[in-house]
Amino acid sequence: MQVIKTVPALRQALQQARQAGQAVGFVPTMGCLHAGHLALVQQARQENACVVVSIFVNPTQFGPQEDFAKYPRTFEDDCVQCQAAGAAIVFAPTTEDFYAPQSSTWVEETFVTQGLCGTFRPGHFRGVTTVVAMLFNVVQPDAAYFGRKDLQQLGAIKRMVRDLHFPVKIVAHDTVREANGVAMSSRNRYLSPTEFQQATAIPAALQAAQQAVQHGEREATKVQQLALARLQQEPALQLQYCEVIDADTLRPVTTITPGHTAVAIACYLGKTRLIDNCLL
Ligand code: PAF
Repeated sequence: MQVIKTVPALRQALQQARQAGQAVGFVPTMGCLHAGHLALVQQARQENACVVVSIFVNPTQFGPQEDFAKYPRTFEDDCVQCQAAGAAIVFAPTTEDFYAPQSSTWVEETFVTQGLCGTFRPGHFRGVTTVVAMLFNVVQPDAAYFGRKDLQQLGAIKRMVRDLHFPVKIVAHDTVREANGVAMSSRNRYLSPTEFQQATAIPAALQAAQQAVQHGEREATKVQQLALARLQQEPALQLQYCEVIDADTLRPVTTITPGHTAVAIACYLGKTRLIDNCLL
């Protein structure tokens, strides 16, 4: 596995892969890899001869009061895990190399990024779509792999690819969960053992919503109330939102269409912001 830090060196390595007829699969990450990331790398490896993983803590997707400075950085360990999962290349540019000085160009999706996390993290998705567009331009992958845990990010990237004609297939992978049901996230390592236990209220609320739909409930407000009631059983959670939404447009719905409606939750536990969702 090669660890590459600059755009010209990456382009050269990828030219060789393409000349050898290899399909390129791409997994963009901010590092601090967990089993959720590795599942993406493994799927990418099954479907492509050459897998590129980017490790780049992207400053433009963090708000001024957010955790950019303290975001966990575990680069050596990440590289070991990428190699074991079958990656051919880790691309890890510095911010100074990747963003041009006084960079002034943004890529912004403006429909699915409204509401939900878009309300609570202004500018976040603009930073994500901009950096993913930059990464797609340098990697030029055949396929790129994203987790469903970040449902709104996935929606924004799908729209960006569609609207701007990026020749990339977007592959979504199911959320990978800890043994206690909490969705895997690099930010889980901020949680104390008590908070990690308290966080189980989130998957429990999703499950309550799912069960109601399985038992025939189709009214979104009723399902939302059930999920909220479960969340409220854990007083340590500070809720940002719990919404029943269309899984593609991410807009709130009044009636549930099984397989096309999702419930999405964001909350703080102490200083840690957690998100999760599931299809109903
Ligand atoms: O999901 C993430 O880790 C990041 O938002 C991404 C897609 C790597 C862009 O920085």
